[in-house]
Amino acid sequence: MTTHDPTEQTLAQLGAVDPEAVARQFSELRQRFDEQAARTSGAEAWRAFVVSWTGRKSGTLSHIGDNWLKPAPPALKRAIGQELNRLKDHIEAVLAEKSRGIEAAEQTAAAARSKLDLSLPGAARALGTRHLIRQTYEELQHIFLSIGFSVVEGPEIETPYYNFEALNIPEHHPARDNMDTFYVAGSRELRLLRTHTSPMQVRTMEKQPPPVRIIVPGKVYRRDNPDATHGYMFHQIEGLAVDTDITFCDFKGTVEHFVREFLGPQARTRLRPSYFPFTEPSAEVDASCHVCGGSGCRTCKFSGWIELFGAGMVDPAVYGFVGYDPGKLSGFAFGMGVDRLAMMKYGVSELPLLYQNDVRFLRQFP
Ligand code: DAH
Repeated sequence: MTTHDPTEQTLAQLGAVDPEAVARQFSELRQRFDEQAARTSGAEAWRAFVVSWTGRKSGTLSHIGDNWLKPAPPALKRAIGQELNRLKDHIEAVLAEKSRGIEAAEQTAAAARSKLDLSLPGAARALGTRHLIRQTYEELQHIFLSIGFSVVEGPEIETPYYNFEALNIPEHHPARDNMDTFYVAGSRELRLLRTHTSPMQVRTMEKQPPPVRIIVPGKVYRRDNPDATHGYMFHQIEGLAVDTDITFCDFKGTVEHFVREFLGPQARTRLRPSYFPFTEPSAEVDASCHVCGGSGCRTCKFSGWIELFGAGMVDPAVYGFVGYDPGKLSGFAFGMGVDRLAMMKYGVSELPLLYQNDVRFLRQFP
């Protein structure tokens, strides 16, 4: 393919001894250049081609200078010089023109190489969901919000007054024992991590006149030994309704409504006498077992009933602490364990599952 390069010989060797012969040599050279330029494609080959013609040391143009111009007889020098300049101009113009095209093509090719392939499947992005505890909170809150309760929240670090005294649990009262309490070290006045959300009953009534209809979602803390159903921290929703004419019937009706909303219209409710220092009378609210419907199974330990939460009519002693008139006001309160209710309703066997954040567990509650 490579024909012999004529510029490696002198013009005399090529037999070009007059201006016409010189012109012919140049015109052949120009043709040779044009053909090569037309044939060359690709950035790499193009660069090599440019160097082969214009390279300082061994490009064809410098060969012409060395082999044609320098050794030429003075009579021919002028003609050779003119031809050489015309050839140079031509070469420069063609190179400039074609180099632009080659550069543009190179850029396009590079862009195409780095371009996104839109036909490739995308990287799937994992979407988070609300945690089962959060979902249950929202379910519970929705039920009470739709019958006129509103949500308030309060401090997790409490004083013994709000957590105990004002709830009618004086010092040395046995009820303090079964609420093993975390006390906060280092504070000047005694502080503790609230053992229940009930302190917010007191804080709310202190601040606002009746009527009161609130629910209080929040974390509570107890020094329990962690096991399948106990942890250091769990979630509660407190409820409080106080007004001038609230009766035990209102209490019972509200509770029954709640149980049907939460567990379904078939669920029945049972109030079992119980004891809390801040309610009188007090009750444990049971629901007919959601697994067997009440006929008895392992879940309800063959009793047909499941214990849901504690509740009762607000003890008049509590009104005394907040400046409410116990002769004029009455109301009811309740306190639910959200973790417990979530486990029961969604069949979660062990409390730790709720806190380990194992995605295999979490994904079951999208
Ligand atoms: N505070 C109680 C506890 O954590 C639960 C409770 C029971 C709250 C009866 C109430 C209530 O408001 O009336 O064990």
